[in-house]
Amino acid sequence: MNSDIERVLIDEKRLSEINKSLGERISRDYEGKRLLVVCVIKGSLIFTADLLRRISVPCELEFIQASSYGSGAVSSGRVEIKRDIPYPIDEYDILIVEDIIDSGRTLRSVIDHLEERNAKSVSVCTLLSKPSRREVDVDVKYIGEEVPDLFVVGYGLDYAERYRSLPYVGVLKPQVYENKEV
Ligand code: IMP
Ligand code: MG
Repeated sequence: MNSDIERVLIDEKRLSEINKSLGERISRDYEGKRLLVVCVIKGSLIFTADLLRRISVPCELEFIQASSYGSGAVSSGRVEIKRDIPYPIDEYDILIVEDIIDSGRTLRSVIDHLEERNAKSVSVCTLLSKPSRREVDVDVKYIGEEVPDLFVVGYGLDYAERYRSLPYVGVLKPQVYENKEV
């Protein structure tokens, strides 16, 4: 295991089970619809890649980038859409795929943005949710797992752009970020 990781929170086997069950639900719910899966980069990249292979109905893939965190572990509170879908989306039922919902601000902005662009429908699938941290109310239809208020990395999630490539979700040792300015 990576020496900056305190413990594994969600291992590869559990991640695979989560993807399978979310994929089955999504495939049932989007039967006959024009599904556009919108991956919120960069954190959701690996989750989206695995989830897509569990979705058995036809779908298209896009990327959106929103930033609120800068490079550290503490939210700045401001959310900016840095990359948008470069064509009209009014014919699509959109499924936003997020890595983790913390305050809910990033997701709120992405949902509002896609609704303002007149998407047919907008739903959300997140791998992880930290309900105790919620500041903004958001309706999340598909949740992989609820996690406590800990800073986690791996499987796409980063701390200062590191640890995304770990094949599991792990808790970062507090000393890794406590000693640094975030
Ligand atoms: P929110 O806007 O406060 O909900 O923050 C959501 C975004 O913050 C996520 O998409 C992640 O990029 C990042 N984030 C929140 N919590 C964590 C964490 O524990 N580890 C890594 N990134 C996190
Ligand atoms: Mg991030």
